[in-house]
Amino acid sequence: MKKIIAVTEGDGVGKEVIPEGIKVLNLINDYMEFDFEFKEAPAGGAVWKQCGESLPEKSFETIKTSDALLFGAIGIPGLPQGVAEIAILNIRQGLDLYVNLRPIKLYGALRDRCPLKEEFIGDGIDIYFVRENTEGLYKNIGYLKDDEAENIMRYTRKGCERIIKYAFEFAKRKGHTKITSVDKANILKPSQLWRKIFHEISSEHSDIQAEDIYVDAFCQWLIRTPYSYQTVVTGNMFGDIISDEGAFLIGSLGMASSGNIHPGKVSMYEPIHGSAPDIAGKGIANPIGTILSVKLMMQESFNNQDLGNEIENAIEDALNEGRTIDIQNPSIKTLSTNEMGDLITEKLKIRLKK
Ligand code: NAI
Ligand code: MG
Repeated sequence: MKKIIAVTEGDGVGKEVIPEGIKVLNLINDYMEFDFEFKEAPAGGAVWKQCGESLPEKSFETIKTSDALLFGAIGIPGLPQGVAEIAILNIRQGLDLYVNLRPIKLYGALRDRCPLKEEFIGDGIDIYFVRENTEGLYKNIGYLKDDEAENIMRYTRKGCERIIKYAFEFAKRKGHTKITSVDKANILKPSQLWRKIFHEISSEHSDIQAEDIYVDAFCQWLIRTPYSYQTVVTGNMFGDIISDEGAFLIGSLGMASSGNIHPGKVSMYEPIHGSAPDIAGKGIANPIGTILSVKLMMQESFNNQDLGNEIENAIEDALNEGRTIDIQNPSIKTLSTNEMGDLITEKLKIRLKK
């Protein structure tokens, strides 16, 4: 099965973690009925410095005509605010990637890295955040003056319906029994529309328990009973914030992956961390967020659930034998980015050979 994968390494550690994702894809190429072709789509701060644009038209064209995009991270210290990062918003808006899927899973081997006490971890953390990705405050409608600034939180029925429907279908596919909607309907009008539509759609899914909760309360419960959440659906800004809070629970920002998805169309997969200028160039960045993004690509774009599960199992196998410095354990070998990628690839190879 021929698949074209656009690749944007970006800036900083993006250049270090993406090659580890490619390693895994090359292994899959060798062992499965896939025929991946990689096409570079340069974007980010370094590209902006060269040509004054962080997402050149040629790169966007490459992305648009691919089957999926593997994206590293962008941002360089010292550039004007946002000139590099706008590339991400332009890809999301340009491809209408209305789903931002952010899994938060605490692997058994990393329970001791979770900042919560054992009793609050319970039987584990395994949450899928489904964030609306194209409306609300991040839609780039706004202005900044010397003494005044504004962004508008605008939601449409179409925008709410499609993300909430996706969340229910996703929850069903994962065998989840509960879906939680996070909003601020006690104050915000767009949240009132959101909640109304959530109730309409939940009434068509009697097999899934639907609950809604205000975002401020959710931030508290997420660290008190994280084990009680399965699929969590929310708007753009709340999703950005609560999924980052969630990422903190799984040991390291370097462990968290994400998909920017339009079902059936070209979608973008990326670790949630940024370009990490404080550690860039040292070969110590954790590549697992990127490799888990490859997992999501296999499951969400290429419809291969089992392969995705095997990638995740290979990561769990590897965590018992070696770890990057951010998830280091004194009794387990410390590995570089490259070595961590090699170890996971080796573990996956054993699984795919079976
Ligand atoms: P960051 O995510 O780059 O780093 C935050 C902290 O996490 C740092 O201490 C970093 O060393 C650590 N970290 C990040 N990735 C890691 C990994 N793979 N392994 C181990 N440790 C890791 O966030 P920060 O510092 O706020 O932003 C740096 C730049 O990245 C900025 O220009 C920002 O705008 C940009 N950014 C880009 C994103 C993207 O490309 N999607 C997302 C977030 C930030
Ligand atoms: Mg964020």
